[in-house]
Amino acid sequence: MEARDKKYTLITGASAGLGKAIAKECALRGQNLILASLPHEGLHLFGQALEKKHNVEVHCYETDLTHPEEPYRLARWVKQNFPLNILINNAGVGSAMPIDNAAPAYIDNILQLNIRVLSLLTCLLIPELKKHRRSHILNVGSLAAFGPIPFKTVYPASKAFVNAFSHCLRSELRGSPVRVTVLNPGAMLTNSDVTARNSRQGWLQRQLTLSPEAAARYAVDGMLRGKRSIIPGLLCKLSYWLMRLTPNVIQSFLLARVFQKEVPAQQSSKPADIEPASGEKLIQLHKN
Ligand SMILES: NC(=O)c1ccc[n+]([C@@H]2O[C@H](COP(=O)([O-])OP(=O)(O)OC[C@H]3O[C@@H](n4cnc5c(N)ncnc54)[C@H](OP(=O)(O)O)[C@@H]3O)[C@@H](O)[C@H]2O)c1
Repeated sequence: MEARDKKYTLITGASAGLGKAIAKECALRGQNLILASLPHEGLHLFGQALEKKHNVEVHCYETDLTHPEEPYRLARWVKQNFPLNILINNAGVGSAMPIDNAAPAYIDNILQLNIRVLSLLTCLLIPELKKHRRSHILNVGSLAAFGPIPFKTVYPASKAFVNAFSHCLRSELRGSPVRVTVLNPGAMLTNSDVTARNSRQGWLQRQLTLSPEAAARYAVDGMLRGKRSIIPGLLCKLSYWLMRLTPNVIQSFLLARVFQKEVPAQQSSKPADIEPASGEKLIQLHKN
């Protein structure tokens, strides 16, 4: 079968964590994949393993998507080579950092990846998605989108953007073949930063964690069923409703107590001067 007769799913941030789990879930359902992540020798090996195990086609695209031209390059490459019917905007970063201690580069990276890259890829690839009888966009937000979370500040605000953007987009695309779904998971132990932060939390907060594999299953099932929004897991749904029903001022007070615990003693990413940090340095700073 020619590539033009097949359909493909693009997943950003597919080399690790939730993105990797979503890629496995999609391959299991026979979807051909385009996996994008930072340059990473593991990405190709992962792609090859999926091809072998699930008899699907996997293409890898390694890049730092926060470079200004990269979302355009990726979208162009996809348009020229693959009929795309699913776009999964998963790549995202954020950590716990008092804004006083945060380097501008830390803030910049969150804004670039969580907001700019997601919005541009969506905008550039909608014409491709519209060429099919049924297509999907899955945007990965966070439970953090629903509360003012002191000591994370920019991250929850960026995820509130993802949530609002996805709901608006879904309404705009009503009547078109494209269904938009937003996934807002709670904590998942995907990388060393999340794991370290989670270990500083109390018992109750630790119970809210979900495995990336379980979250991926909820996500892909819900997306293919055309759901508007997905909050995986009963405890996360409960937290969502608690956040909705609690006034902001009380939430900020309570959440500050919870999330201050995630900030390690004397953590700072602020440089002595205000020069932008290099891309390399940025990536080190922002493991989710
Ligand atoms: N983990 C949680 O507790 C949690 C909770 C709620 C929501 N989320 C959301 O879930 C999504 C995935 O999070 P995760 O915890 O699975 O993340 P992760 O384990 O840190 O993986 C992030 C993925 O994004 C890629 N990536 C990072 N910066 C990139 C860049 N500049 N250009 C291209 N690719 C880049 C990474 O590539 P490399 O592997 O090459 O570094 C990796 O594939 C994010 O949107 C996050 O906000 C996470």
